[in-house]
Amino acid sequence: MSPADGSAVDVSWEANADLVVIGGGVAGLTAARAASLRGLKVLTVSKGGPTDTSTQYAQGGIAVVAPENDSVESHVHDTVEAGAGLCNEDAVRSIVSDGQAAVAALTDLGAVFDLGRDGAVSRTREGGHSTRRIIHAGGDATGAEVQRALNAAGLPVLFGASASRIVTGASGVSGLVVLSDNGFGVVHTPAVLLATGGCGQLYSCSTNPPGATADGIELALDAGATVADLEFVQFHPTVLFAAGGVGRRPLISEAVRGEGAKLLDTEGNSVTAGVHPLGDLAPRDVVSRAIADRMRVLGTDHVLLDARGVDDFATRFPTITASCLEAGIDPREQLIPVAPAAHYQCGGVVTDVHGRTRVAGLYAAGEVARTGLHGANRLASNSLLEGLVVGERAGIAAAERQGVAAEVTDVTHRPLPRMDRTALQLLMTRNASVVRDGAGLAEATVTLAAVGSTVPTTLREQEDTALTVTATALVLAAAARTESRGCHTRADCPTSDEAQRHSIEVHMDEAGELHASEPRLAGVH
Ligand code: FAD
Ligand code: SIN
Repeated sequence: MSPADGSAVDVSWEANADLVVIGGGVAGLTAARAASLRGLKVLTVSKGGPTDTSTQYAQGGIAVVAPENDSVESHVHDTVEAGAGLCNEDAVRSIVSDGQAAVAALTDLGAVFDLGRDGAVSRTREGGHSTRRIIHAGGDATGAEVQRALNAAGLPVLFGASASRIVTGASGVSGLVVLSDNGFGVVHTPAVLLATGGCGQLYSCSTNPPGATADGIELALDAGATVADLEFVQFHPTVLFAAGGVGRRPLISEAVRGEGAKLLDTEGNSVTAGVHPLGDLAPRDVVSRAIADRMRVLGTDHVLLDARGVDDFATRFPTITASCLEAGIDPREQLIPVAPAAHYQCGGVVTDVHGRTRVAGLYAAGEVARTGLHGANRLASNSLLEGLVVGERAGIAAAERQGVAAEVTDVTHRPLPRMDRTALQLLMTRNASVVRDGAGLAEATVTLAAVGSTVPTTLREQEDTALTVTATALVLAAAARTESRGCHTRADCPTSDEAQRHSIEVHMDEAGELHASEPRLAGVH
């Protein structure tokens, strides 16, 4: 088999599966396990190694309602409030309600969460939460513990294998093209589940690992699925600042502020005083904007976090302590320089709360998916929760494709735009960052429209193609949203417009062109 467009890529191996899961983070491994337990022959592919995931780096924890002194309705309320009018409340309630069961399943797998002095599970607070409901592990190493427990479940994963195209036919998905050390291969399968994580590498500075290159967005668009809410990129307010620092930067968890640390500008004044009733624990978009504002007014490139009053800092936050000490800052005695950085993709591939997309046999879960849980701004620590809950459900849903015939007879790769990664990151950082405006977005649109199209044949080329396609879709949506809402702040349209309280969807046509849909009410299809 070779690509029908005439490029010189040969398919050198073939395999069969009931389900191929793309991604070995919290969503992918949870889905793979759920499907395997139901008797499906599951192949999981991951382009990185066992810990090359955003899951591995998660610090603060998992938002999950405590039965004694919290309620699902309170968690729903906080999530919807942070989501700035674009959450699907039914989806929120559905996902939040299954949080305890999902964490219990993880605990059964061997995950160990921190206990307080009273022997009960310890809970911290993060931005936008009205109560302490975030469970954590290893102090600030929650993701590493989640990843360890899932990796230890012993699911078969093909590491170093990158999904490069989803093949569809009359009855939906029929296979997946994969690039591995053995060259291109085809897996004949009626079901593919995207769990590819986020898009942090769109920006020069991010909390995300190098593999967060938005592959799932491009794969889904190419396969005929719809994406939505892409303009809502969450910038974490507090990433350890280093002059000129680019690439993955260490996170200073919001839980540090949950334990009492204060944000100060370089003149020693509170950054958030008078900005929001929750002050330094306001939702992330609010705090990131307040920091960007102080930096602009004072002409600085960072603000400061005073964590000197946090009890037992080094024990409670060992990962953060190590990162700070490595940078020559002792957080127990010195102020920590921090600045916002790209952190989380609130939008993604449009799914229902079981991970189903509009393409039969194509599922998505975790950060790549847009279930309606996050709306215009994700509430802290709702992401691991979503990965666990929707990952499980999507793995179960994929069983509905058993018995559907799947055979790939023709592999085609279509040429798509590909821009140099560094130039793309500079463009997105300059024109589509914490604060955007119409002129900057128009300039980005013109630059992206001029990029030439090619067929990617290496992993790096595939990633750069995914980043370029995703950037184009993001800028298209951001330019269309002429208001400020959640994580999308337009300097030229500073207020929210009730008439724009809807999601913007983007799809790809046969020629590979992207189109934004007519506005419609927020919610899953
Ligand atoms: P990931 O864990 O990112 O996994 C993606 C997988 O897909 C990887 O295995 C990758 O190799 C694979 N992949 C990607 N593309 C391809 C391809 N083309 N072919 C094959 N494989 C591919 N959330 C919280 O809820 N609480 C927190 O405390 C928290 N802290 C965070 C701290 C940091 C520093 C970061 C970066 C994120 C944090 N988040 C937190 C967000 C959360 O960690 C992520 O949203 C979540 O882990 C994503 O899980 P996932 O399974 O969707 O993707
Ligand atoms: C953090 O610990 O601040 C990150 C939590 C999250 O992104 O949900």
